[in-house]
Amino acid sequence: MEFQRTHGCGELRLEDENKSVTLAGWVKRTRDHGKLIFVDLRDRSGFVQVVADYDRDRSIFEMAESLRSEYVIALRGTVNRRSSDTVNPNLKTGEVEIRVDELQVLNESKTPPFYIEDGINVDENIRLRYRYLDLRRPEMLERLKLRHNTIKTIRDNLDEQGFVEVETPVLTRSTPEGARDYLVPFRHQPGSFFALPQSPQLFKQLLMVSGLERYFQIARCFRDEDLRADRQPEFTQVDMEVSFADRGKIFQIVETMLGQVWERIKGEKIPSFDCLTYYDAMNRFGVDKPDLRFGMELIDISEPAAQSEFRVFTQSVEKEGVVKGLRVPGGGSYSRKQIDDLTLKAQELGASGLAWVVITSEGWKSPIAKFFTPGLMEEIGKKVGAEENDLLLFVAEDWETTCHVLGQLRLILGKELEFEEESKFVWVIDFPLLEYNSEDKRYYSMHHPFTAPLEEDMPKLDEAPLKVRAQAYDLVLDGVEIGGGSIRISQRNIQEKMFSLLGINPDEAQEKFGFLLEAFEYGAPPHGGIAFGLDRLIMLLAGDQSIRDIIPFPKTAGGNCLMTGAPSPVAPSQLKELKIKIDE
Ligand code: AMO
Ligand code: AMP
Repeated sequence: MEFQRTHGCGELRLEDENKSVTLAGWVKRTRDHGKLIFVDLRDRSGFVQVVADYDRDRSIFEMAESLRSEYVIALRGTVNRRSSDTVNPNLKTGEVEIRVDELQVLNESKTPPFYIEDGINVDENIRLRYRYLDLRRPEMLERLKLRHNTIKTIRDNLDEQGFVEVETPVLTRSTPEGARDYLVPFRHQPGSFFALPQSPQLFKQLLMVSGLERYFQIARCFRDEDLRADRQPEFTQVDMEVSFADRGKIFQIVETMLGQVWERIKGEKIPSFDCLTYYDAMNRFGVDKPDLRFGMELIDISEPAAQSEFRVFTQSVEKEGVVKGLRVPGGGSYSRKQIDDLTLKAQELGASGLAWVVITSEGWKSPIAKFFTPGLMEEIGKKVGAEENDLLLFVAEDWETTCHVLGQLRLILGKELEFEEESKFVWVIDFPLLEYNSEDKRYYSMHHPFTAPLEEDMPKLDEAPLKVRAQAYDLVLDGVEIGGGSIRISQRNIQEKMFSLLGINPDEAQEKFGFLLEAFEYGAPPHGGIAFGLDRLIMLLAGDQSIRDIIPFPKTAGGNCLMTGAPSPVAPSQLKELKIKIDE
């Protein structure tokens, strides 16, 4: 191509009037006005209107007539002021147009399967099949830039804070983070496999033993888990680890980093960070990742409920359960059908039912009103802060179930409220160290096996392991868990004890994690860290609903790449080399 671009299409302004410019890009569309053909020419910077004039140059006009959407062209032309009646105030380049002096078609294009423009309403599978065209749409290119800028800001900030970026292996041993591993067969040792990392957890801890003190990595992680809207089989973490740091130090580092991201990317001061214990998060919001943009807290009414004549409530309290309520402002106008649907939802979530009360000017309207004295009604009303035309919902079950059910109803109903849009960060701390799985009859780490117990709970490790809290923390933004981490175990004997609690016997521990246990014997500093789900973070920064929108080449919800067709069968010869047989 003999044309060297002088400007981006979207950069041209009235100040450029009469300049001779060279542009290149894609034909957004053409409009034929008899002796004038208008071409909207688009490149990464935006688009500008180009005019081919029959009276000015017939051969250029004829070439312009042949242009179709998404043809790639280059041109030389002159920047002209548009006449006042044709100025487009909605367009940055709307005061000018380019009169073409030379035109060259660099490549033709088939008619694309969808319009290359913002806000299209097209089946996502078609967008993913033609992802390269989807990404050509300005709003998608913007997302790629947002991603780049976010990563760059994080890199710069962590560098300023003394962090060193280190690449850890992708072909490695499995690190348990709770999902299945993706395995990679090793041709030289048939039967041996690498695992793709679920996270760089062990390597970053070993880097602390190495004396690096502050590590980070923009790390690709791979997890074979059940797919959901906010999960991908491969995703990116901002992974960090710090030596000689307590939880407070790590929070400070993270808040500084995210503060800069908000400032540079959104041009805003970052909202303040709240902190809740796991217990309070569950008790007040019914989830371990509460959305604090709206209130509607769960209120315990066990005490007055136990004094009522309603057996569902009194029995729950007798059986060491609870009764909790949720106030839905203005919910008094819900139809019976809506309330029945909420009841069904509560049952799906594990409650045996849902009790409800509408607050009217005459008092309670409710199937359970007859079981309550006016005094009890008043006491309960006060506790939940009821006002006229509110709907009160009550669940009476054990604490976990009650919190879970009302917490989910709160999220469903909260979406219908018009709450303040401002984002809310919250650190959730003091998670339980372990959870018990009654099917497998064993404990699992709630975070991962390298998380240190709270110092003060250590004595409970033997007799009441489920009561032990972990030095683990999650960072939650508007109901989405964007990061999680912990202060780690750095002593061999404690790590061994943890493995044994998790039912990993000493031989297995040695076999799988011997290198870590051994490293702890050579001066391991106290350390801790955190990892952020970069895709989720950018999704929230962009105000998107799906992480697929901000991952350049994502997998479908079913785990496939529709563009390349991965995963796919491989040639029999490849399998033979690996000594792998497929069991049909
Ligand atoms: P964790 O497993 O909590 O911790 O992961 C950290 C963060 O990564 C994001 N994330 C995901 N994002 C998209 N798709 C997925 N499938 C997915 N899984 C996780 C979440 C999550 O908060 N090694 C520890 C961190 C540490 O202890 O330092 C770890 O990986 O936003
Ligand atoms: P029942 O006695 O089962 O007919 O229930 C009477 C009312 O209490 C119905 O509106 C049920 O939905 C509601 N209910 C039943 N079980 C519970 C529960 N565990 N918590 C709250 N309300 C319940």
